[in-house]
Amino acid sequence: MAVAVIVGSQWGDEGKGKLTHYMSPHYEVTLRFQGGSNAGHTVITGGRTFKFNLLPSAILHAGRTCIMGDGMVVNPAHLIEEIALLQKGGFWQDNLRVGSRAHLVLPYHILLDELEEKRRGGSSIGTTKQGIGPCYADKYARIGVLAGDLLKPDVLHKRLEVVVPVKNALLRGLYQYEPLIDLEALYEELLEQGKVIGPYIADTAAIVREHIDAGHSILCEGAQGALLDIDYGTYPFVTSSHPVTAGACLGTGIAPGDISRVIGVSKAYTTRVGNGSFPTELTDATGEHLRERGLEYGTTTGRPRRCGWIDLVLLRHALRINGASELAITKIDVLDDLPTVKACVAYRRKGEIVTRTGLADAELAQCEPVYEEFSGWKGPIREVRSESELPAELTSFVDFMEKQLGVPITVLSLGPDHDETVSRQPKL
Ligand code: IMP
Repeated sequence: MAVAVIVGSQWGDEGKGKLTHYMSPHYEVTLRFQGGSNAGHTVITGGRTFKFNLLPSAILHAGRTCIMGDGMVVNPAHLIEEIALLQKGGFWQDNLRVGSRAHLVLPYHILLDELEEKRRGGSSIGTTKQGIGPCYADKYARIGVLAGDLLKPDVLHKRLEVVVPVKNALLRGLYQYEPLIDLEALYEELLEQGKVIGPYIADTAAIVREHIDAGHSILCEGAQGALLDIDYGTYPFVTSSHPVTAGACLGTGIAPGDISRVIGVSKAYTTRVGNGSFPTELTDATGEHLRERGLEYGTTTGRPRRCGWIDLVLLRHALRINGASELAITKIDVLDDLPTVKACVAYRRKGEIVTRTGLADAELAQCEPVYEEFSGWKGPIREVRSESELPAELTSFVDFMEKQLGVPITVLSLGPDHDETVSRQPKL
């Protein structure tokens, strides 16, 4: 039995979807453990591109159980759309289970996310406006609606009786917004959605436990990244869940001791969507080059991503918090044309050189990157299929990062397609 966790080690969008799809044939179960429609995982296989916001990236593999764990927040309308799209294309494998304790993202969460971002003006977070923060807030305020409630109409109605007046008071009082939420109409809508999703809802923690007891292998697919963790990220410019390895336990019912492998994922450079400090951000032509070549536009929102060099100070923090046993570096081909590439190895802060920092936004804002510069490989690498064929300049860059990070780099992703992936023999 092996439980592996794939976790983002930057501010999200590291290419976890591709890696999950690449690894998942070797695992009986693949599951997501946090987040919701704010995530956008792209899988390119057989010349076709699939973008998933909610479904685990292994959903295309027949005979593999895919679980949306209890730690997720699920927009039922989006889930129905994603399932319908796969059904229409003939790709649906009927291999989904949705945690009965996962919370539902309802229309008022999305509305409140939008209204609150607008109210905050210049202090906005830059959320994906998918209702993620308001939904997790309700979970912890114990006024949320659970996926399992869709199977129990009486319970569902009672939950709405508690929460809808609270939301309407907020909409009316703080935001002066109309129309207010119509409890009965929402109830009817949810009953209809329950008819579609109901068959997939289950006690997924128990299912996971059965698989573990049977000695099966399990792959947990993180969404977002460690730097967006609500506690260990760059607060307040974070998401409202735990994208770190510990979140995989909380969001699935897997015990910490069951995890045997943690694969951190980082791009060969850095991107960030939304607001907040970003020490290695490039606002020049190189930043623009990374954005255009890397197609750095949000999968969910279409927003241009901010781009910059890889930041080994932040990556070291993320790998440590994630307890990463290895690291996959993705989108290396995006750097192909550059004459030189850089990695931030330390910061200059108030005249001092530091190799670690607190992540509070104000603290990061004072950090100026100190770079190590490398010759670029100035040629296409997407055709490379083995480590020995890699250009020497790229090998030096990767070897340097591995030494700096102290974590074995085992996978190099050289392009978006499944096949454009090379296993690497670590040198640590
Ligand atoms: P929220 O998760 O929509 O509340 O957004 C909070 C912050 O997390 C914003 O800065 C978003 O841009 C960022 N964020 C959320 N999900 C993702 C993701 O999947 N990739 C990258 N950034 C994300």
